[in-house]
Parts: sequence; structure tokens; C-alpha cells
Amino acid sequence: MGSVNAVASLAVDGEIAILSINSPPVNALSQQVRAGITQGMQQAIGDAAIKAIVLICEGKTFIAGADITEFGKPPQPPSLIDVEDSIENSPKPVIAAIHGTALGGGLEVALCCHYRVAVPSAKCGLPEVHLGLLPGAGGTQRLPRIVGPEAALEMVTSGKHVDAKTALAASLIDELVPEGELRASAVAFARKVLTEKRPLKKVRDLQDKVVAARGKPEIFADFRKANARKFRGFLAPEYNIRCIEAAVNLPFEAGMEVERKLFTELMGGVQSAAQRYVFFAERQVWKIPDVPEDTPTIPIRKVGIIGAGTMGGGIAMNFANIGLPVTLVETKQDALERGLGVIRKNYERSAKGGRFTMEDVEKRMSLLKGTLNPDELADCDLVIEAVFENMDVKKEVFGKLDRIVKQGAILATNTSALDINEIATAVKRPEFVIGLHFFSPANVMRLLEVVRAAKTSKPVIATSMQLAKKIGKIAALVGVCPGFVGNRILYARQVQANAMLLEGAMPWDVDKVIYDFGLPMGPFAMGDLAGLDIGWNKDRTSSSTIREVLCEKDRRGQKTGAGFYDYDEQRNPRPSPVTEQIVRDFAAKSGNPQRQISDAEILERCIYAQINEGAKILEEGIAIRPSDIDIVWINGYGWPAYRGGPMFYADTVGLKNVVAKLKEYGPRLGAEFTLSPLLEKLAAEGKRFQDLK
Ligand SMILES: NC(=O)c1ccc[n+]([C@@H]2O[C@H](COP(=O)([O-])OP(=O)(O)OC[C@H]3O[C@@H](n4cnc5c(N)ncnc54)[C@H](O)[C@@H]3O)[C@@H](O)[C@H]2O)c1
Repeated sequence: MGSVNAVASLAVDGEIAILSINSPPVNALSQQVRAGITQGMQQAIGDAAIKAIVLICEGKTFIAGADITEFGKPPQPPSLIDVEDSIENSPKPVIAAIHGTALGGGLEVALCCHYRVAVPSAKCGLPEVHLGLLPGAGGTQRLPRIVGPEAALEMVTSGKHVDAKTALAASLIDELVPEGELRASAVAFARKVLTEKRPLKKVRDLQDKVVAARGKPEIFADFRKANARKFRGFLAPEYNIRCIEAAVNLPFEAGMEVERKLFTELMGGVQSAAQRYVFFAERQVWKIPDVPEDTPTIPIRKVGIIGAGTMGGGIAMNFANIGLPVTLVETKQDALERGLGVIRKNYERSAKGGRFTMEDVEKRMSLLKGTLNPDELADCDLVIEAVFENMDVKKEVFGKLDRIVKQGAILATNTSALDINEIATAVKRPEFVIGLHFFSPANVMRLLEVVRAAKTSKPVIATSMQLAKKIGKIAALVGVCPGFVGNRILYARQVQANAMLLEGAMPWDVDKVIYDFGLPMGPFAMGDLAGLDIGWNKDRTSSSTIREVLCEKDRRGQKTGAGFYDYDEQRNPRPSPVTEQIVRDFAAKSGNPQRQISDAEILERCIYAQINEGAKILEEGIAIRPSDIDIVWINGYGWPAYRGGPMFYADTVGLKNVVAKLKEYGPRLGAEFTLSPLLEKLAAEGKRFQDLK
């Protein structure tokens, strides 16, 4: 015995062989690992002295999935199915010894072992759905046979990890063994299997749980219905469900056929390509070419926030959640109390929903200190300003912070669109000024735009990115321009949406197209949600836009029960005859010929204008790479991951086609619109955004 290949080795403990995989970092199922297992199995089976085999991994985890760098390349033997066969068909019992995470192909391999033992900290999961896929090596057929179709549906469509205790309760694990004693315990378990003459339990042959669900299509119908909103537009969850249905209704081999067919379809489709791209984009986004990973960071032990309004409160929660003390400064006692009250209500709602205990609520609240005295920010390591969106107010606040806050602290602004370089002129230490642009609700939305101003220092950038990770956000580093990346692209879409209202479309026509494309809502519904009176001033209003007129009629969005739409008590929108009349009046005044605007035109003008703006953002160096723009739009605006973000989507449409359409729409796109030279160049060269390196 001894080494099998570069990543696998066999050891012997009496009559038990221990087949051990060591392929850092996560023992992914690379060709070498696959070969190591099949060869190791062969050797152990061929050795007459061996009676049982333990499959175990070294390092921090059991096999944690496929080697996704092999995706899209010609498959190298042995296949994962070969590996599984070598285990499942072994005449000697095979016991999987699980620590860390048994994920995807790793769990599928474990499901081919005859028994599974795990340490309490271990986790199991089939996360393929996140990559737009399904477990394609029998996972969808074996899992329901062991845990039952209901639990299997949940696992394959959510992709979530299940902890060892839950796995034991679901019979996915046969025995929990003490932490740190996995190997010895697995060997002992193997001996028990031998002495008790336990059968070679093949999961594929288990029948009870699937037979019990046969003839009960409501299991699947109910599940689809309950998750319809979550799964909308995504192919992979539906395909996973179909596989579980097949496991229930068909013999094992026929179910495997269904799984193989649906897997192949997903793997070759654009959705999975998009979701795999997003997977890499989420890792890429943290890399900043001129701010290397070893850039020194500033320890953040105490955070200050100015303004306890909508944003300030939500931002504060992020830090209290990770145990950092936060001082919130307001100008008036009632605003402060209101702000803290909203935070408490949010926390209590989470506690009622079972996310944490009431004790946790108190613990978090105790970390939040409200004050009217900005001097109390003196010893903060980071202060985030979230006052009104007004340059003079912001500059005054920063001037004050400069005098109060200790040297070496980061002074951040949550501005949505103001020039941070100008804000930085209000302080004597512009290198410590940065934008931390949270999205509303700030305690929920995953995106953080970290906005680098002209003089922002590298440690300040590195610290901000690191902090974003700590509070569970995904951060994209962007540069200063009006609206930064996200809102600037949003604005480009809004210009087209508004223009189409003057050419014959109604707000709900535009919204429907954008919703059907996969976004959570269209531009006008979004306006109603945010409030149409953002930036509106009742003293200066002059009925010059549809939006102004709506505000003048006190139709200021959802909060007033009406905006572009009328809303019922549950805030369900309904097209409004009032809005329709206002739109018609404006359209008539515009002098535009009125026409039926096709859904295709609505989509192309909205989305291609966004793509064009994204290209300009790249040209100007405001975003580091196209995939960062996609990350912003997926996490900040609900762009469907299965379309990979606006820049990836553009690549799938073909940049040539995007440019041709934009040229075709020509003057309709408005006087402000200009074609991005970068987009035009890439299109002419037959290239994609993904080719920009
Ligand atoms: N609401 C959003 O969706 C959103 C999203 C991203 C960024 N932002 C930006 O966040 C900032 C805050 O927006 P908001 O929606 O939370 O506004 P808000 O009106 O809800 O809150 C602002 C708060 O700041 C307080 N304030 C004003 N001047 C102050 C001062 N000098 N010292 C202390 N407190 C002061 C006000 O009393 C108020 O409570 C703005 O710059 C806005 O553009 C907002």
C-alpha cells in the first residue's frame, strides 16, 4: 500500500484500508482525484487481506465539489460516474468519513458509499443550482431515496448546506463521530459493519421514501407554487425538481437518464454559462490591480454614523451585527429616537422570524449609542456620513469631522451621486475620504459600491473592501462620476423609459417588459417604491415633467397610496387612469407622433442604453472590469443572475447587434445619447466585453 497517485494514498489498519485524498485546497474532483479514487479502490478490492474501505480526505474538508476549472473542457477519464461505480459496486463495504463540507460531486460520491459517518461540524450540500446546474452524477436520484423527496427538493433547489445533525436526522449520515477523531472512528465503524455483517447498503436500491411519494403530484405542485417567486425565470430549480420527480416515479436507471439529459441541457445553455460567470465575477471583484492583498489596513474598532435616517440606521445595523460599537449622531432628539426605534423594530422583526433571539436584539441595541453631540465621534476609526443629499450640507459635515475625528480615521460618505472629490476638499486629509455607497435597505442589500476619490489612499481602500467582506457585503470598487456605476446606468435606462412615455407607451407597458426580462420591477414601479418626491421641491415645482405633476397631485409613490400606479391596502399596484391622462397630455404637448411601441423596442432601448453607459464607464476607468459592473447590477438592482449582468448579457446578444440597434433607434434615443466609442470598437472587431482583460 502507500501512495496511489499524487493526490491519493492507501493505508492499512488491520483488515481496513484507508483511502485518503489530499488535494488542497478543497479536494475538488479533479482528474487526478478521480483517478486516485478509482485506482485506490481497485487496489483495496484486489487485496485479499482488506475487508472494508474508509474514504477520507486530508486538509480542511471532504471533497467539496467538482473542479469547476474543468468545465467546458473535454472530459478526461475516469468520469465521476466511473468513480461512483468503483465505490458503489465494491464487494467490500465502503464508508465515507466526512469533515468540513461534502458538497456537490463530493456528496454524490459519499452517496455511493455504503455508509457515511461525519463529525458534528461537517456539512453536506448540493449547491449546483447556484451555477445554473443540477447534481449530474446521480445526486438527484440517490438523495431523495435516502432523505425523501421533500427534503431533497429543498436541498437541490436551495443549494443550501445541511449541518451534520440535520443530516443524521434525515439518515443522510449513519453516525456522528467525535470531532478530531474521524479517522479512528470511521475505522471503528467499518469494523462494526464487518462484525455485525451489515449489508452493502446501496442508496440506489432504497425504495421506501420514493414509493411513499408516488402518486402524490401535489408534493411537487405545492413546492413549485410556494417557490414561484424565488425561482422566477431560472431554469435550474425547475430542472432539479423534474429530476426529483423522476426519482419518485421512475426506476433508478430511467431516472439517471432524465438527470443526464437535463444536466446536459443546462450545462450547454446560456443560463448556466451566465451563473458560472457570476460565480467567478464575485471572486474577481475583490481584486484591485494597484491595491495588492498585502496592503496594510486600518483596524476598525468603533464606527460613527452621521444621520440616523433611512440609510444611517440600516448602515449602523451592519456593524452592530458583527459586534462593533456604533455611535449615531443626529441633529434633533426626535430624529435620533425615530432612527433608533426603526432599528429596534427591524431587529425585533428578525427575532420574531427566528433569525436570532430577543437577547441578540438587546445585545445589538446595546452596541448602538445615539447622541446629538458630534464630539463623541472623536475616537471612531471610521465615520460614515449619511445626511441629506446636498453638497453644502455634506461639506459642512466633513469640515466638522475633520476638526473632531482623530487622525488616521476613515471619513466616508454614503452619497448616491455627489462629487466625492469636492466633498474631500472640505478636509485637510483627503486621502482618508472615500465613498461607501450602501443600497437601500442598507441592512439587507448585498451591494456596497466603494468609491475611490482622486486622493483616497490605498490602505483606506483595502480597509473598506475588507470591512465590506466582514459585514457580509459584496463590494465593487468604482471611481467618481455622477451616480457612480449603478445609478449612472440606472439613469441611462430612465431617460429611455421616460422618452417612451412621450411616444405612446404607458408606465406599465415599460415596467412589464423589464419585469418579464427578469428584474424585480420596472423603472416606474421602482420610482413609486423609492418615492417620487426624492429631489422634488414643493416650492419650486413647475409641472414640467410627468413626475412633477404626480407629486403636485400628492401622488408621491407607494407611501402616499398612489404614484405612477394606484395602490391598494396591501400595496398592490394597478394602472392608474389619472396617470394615464397625465401621460397623454404630456405626450400630446411633446409633439411626438404617437405610436404603438413594441416590447422589443422597449427592451432594447432600456437595456442597450444601459450597456452603452456601462461601456462608457469602462472607457473612463470608473469600473475596473466589465464583470464588476455586472456584480453591481445583480446585487444592487436585482438584475437576474441567469442573464449574467448587463455586460455579460450584451456579449450573449452580440455587441454588433447591440450597436446596430442603437444606430437604428438613432434620434429617438435623445439628444443626450452618444454611442460609446469602446462599444463601437469592440463590435467592429467582433469582440466581447469578456475579451477585455
Ligand atoms: N434612500 C436611499 O435609497 C439611498 C440610497 C443610497 C444612498 N443614499 C444617500 O444616503 C444619504 C442619506 O439618505 P437617507 O435616505 O437616509 O436620508 P434621510 O432623510 O432618511 O436621512 C438623513 C438624516 O440625516 C440627518 N441629518 C441631516 N443633517 C445632519 C447633520 N448635520 N448631522 C447629523 N444628522 C443630520 C437628518 O435629520 C435625517 O435623519 C443621502 O446622501 C442619500 O443620497 C440614499
